[in-house]
Amino acid sequence: MKHEIITFDTLDSTSTYIKENYINLNNYVVVRAFHQSKGRGRLGRSWKDSKGSLMFSILIKDELDETKLNLFPLLTGLSVHLALKANGINTSIKWPNDIMLNSKKVSGMIVESICEEKVEAVIPGIGINVNNSFFVDEIKDKATSLKLETFKEYDEDKLLNDFLEVFFKEYEKFKNGDYSFLDIVRDNFFLLDKEVYLNYYNEDIKGIVKGIDDRGMIIIESNSKLLHLNSGEVTLTHNYSNLNQ
Ligand code: BTN
Repeated sequence: MKHEIITFDTLDSTSTYIKENYINLNNYVVVRAFHQSKGRGRLGRSWKDSKGSLMFSILIKDELDETKLNLFPLLTGLSVHLALKANGINTSIKWPNDIMLNSKKVSGMIVESICEEKVEAVIPGIGINVNNSFFVDEIKDKATSLKLETFKEYDEDKLLNDFLEVFFKEYEKFKNGDYSFLDIVRDNFFLLDKEVYLNYYNEDIKGIVKGIDDRGMIIIESNSKLLHLNSGEVTLTHNYSNLNQ
């Protein structure tokens, strides 16, 4: 799929930029910024970058079935996983949107959509901690970078291109109704068999993670019932005291 990359030194947020300009931007455009003044994370949180963060968002303006939007974070996460794997880095995928390296978060994504009568645009926004040398105290126990874990520097342009190559290939298959990417997600699923709390619409559900279903929902066994849940924040039970930090 043909895509152009537009690069900015600073933006408030690459995802906000696309949201505000999607009508005039080309399908599949990739917007990258070296610094974001108002980077956004999931669940209304902010995303703070530092030197070495690779940040970009993609605009997709295809006709897509709304019921398939739930799969986008996993498709995007899988593409990060595969692009890093091609560079010798073995990560796992923490449903729905984090990529973990040595049990710390090395990448996160937020997938937003603009829907009117139909899906007008889908905007995956991706942040990868590549060459960051440190993290501020409040996140340093949970976040890491490729450099901190592997003691190597990486070429951020190359990683972006590797990601885009994988993403557009996987997306093309997805668009044609092939959801086999889910099997690779399942094979590299960080949470499998772990005991977690899932904060689901302000209710904490405790259980054991059993898998991911074909709609991209997490399956949790709780009080002998199998629950299929489509959103929420998952915390490992042994990290529970860190919840909301
Ligand atoms: C999360 O982990 O909560 C999601 C983080 C997503 C960050 C990326 S950086 C590029 C894009 N622009 C944003 O404002 N957010 C995403």
